Amino acid sequence: MSSQAPAQPRRVENLHTDKGKVPVYATGIVEQPWDGYTADDHATWATLYARQRELLVGRASAEFLGAQDAMGMTPDRIPKYTALNEVLEAATGWRLIGVEGLLPELDFFDHLANRRFPVTWWIRTPDQIDYIEEPDLFHDLFGHVPLLMNPVFADYMEAYGRGGVKAHAIGPDALQNLTRLYWYTVEFGLIREADGLRIYGSGIVSSSGESVHALESPAPNRIGFDLERIMRTRYRIDTYQKTYFVIDSFEQLMAATEPDFTPIYARLTEQDSIPAGTVLESDVVHHRGTGEGWSTDGDV
Ligand code: PHE
Ligand code: FE
Repeated sequence: MSSQAPAQPRRVENLHTDKGKVPVYATGIVEQPWDGYTADDHATWATLYARQRELLVGRASAEFLGAQDAMGMTPDRIPKYTALNEVLEAATGWRLIGVEGLLPELDFFDHLANRRFPVTWWIRTPDQIDYIEEPDLFHDLFGHVPLLMNPVFADYMEAYGRGGVKAHAIGPDALQNLTRLYWYTVEFGLIREADGLRIYGSGIVSSSGESVHALESPAPNRIGFDLERIMRTRYRIDTYQKTYFVIDSFEQLMAATEPDFTPIYARLTEQDSIPAGTVLESDVVHHRGTGEGWSTDGDV
C-alpha cells in the first residue's frame, strides 16, 4: 500500500505543566501501521541502528548486546512488532503493544505489571535524528525492548509495574520516589562488568551523545547503586545526567527492590531531595564528576 499517506500520531492535546509542554496522546493500544512507514522512516531507523550498534560495542553491557542479537531486530528497516513478539513471548512472556506516545502513569504501570511493553509506533523525522524530546519508536524499541529478553530484567520490569500501581495509590511523593528509581536504572543505569563500566539504560543506549558522555566524560559522577539515595535524587530531563548510578548485576537490582517500599516512602517524606549533581559522604564513588558544562538550574 505504498500510495497510502504516512500515518500520523493522534496527539490529543498539549498540557502545560511545570515540566513544560507535555503532549497527551490517545491511550488505546494501536496496531503498528507498518505499511504506512515511508522510505524516510525506514532510513531513519537504519541510520540510527547502524550508528548506535557501532558506538555500543564495548560500551553497552554484554547483556544488552546479547539480548539485542537474540531478538533479531532488522537493522535495515523498522521491525514488525508481531515478528519481535514471537521471539520475546517465547523467551520471557513479554509482549510489545503499539501506542501513540507517553501514557498516563497508571496505564503505563498496568501494562508493565501484565508484561506488556508499550512501544511508540512512530519514528522521529530526519531533522530530529540527533535529539528528540519525547520517546519515539527508536528509543522504545532499540533502547528498552532488548533487555526484556533477559529473565531477571524482565521480572524487574514487571515488579516495577506492580510497584507503580501501589505507589500511585499511596500518593504523589511515593510516585516521585519510584520515578527516580526508574530514571536512574531503566533509563540511565550503568552496570559494572569485569573489564569496566557499561551502559544498560535505554535513555543512554538510544542516544549517540550520551553513550559516550555517560562512560567517557569526566563531567558526571558515577556512583554505586543505593536504593534510598536514588529515590531522593533529582534528575535532568533536558541535558545529559549529572550523575549515573552503577549496579553490579541485575540480580543486585532485583534483590534491592524486592522489599515492600511502603515504609521507605514514609521515611523519605522526612528527608530533603538531593540535587542531581551532589556527591554525599556516604556514596561509593566510582568517579567524582568535574561538573564541567553543568547548568546550575533545571533539576526536576
Ligand atoms: N518492592 C517494591 C514495592 O513494594 C516494588 C518494586 C519492585 C518497585 C521493583 C520497583 C522495582 O513497592
Ligand atoms: Fe524510555
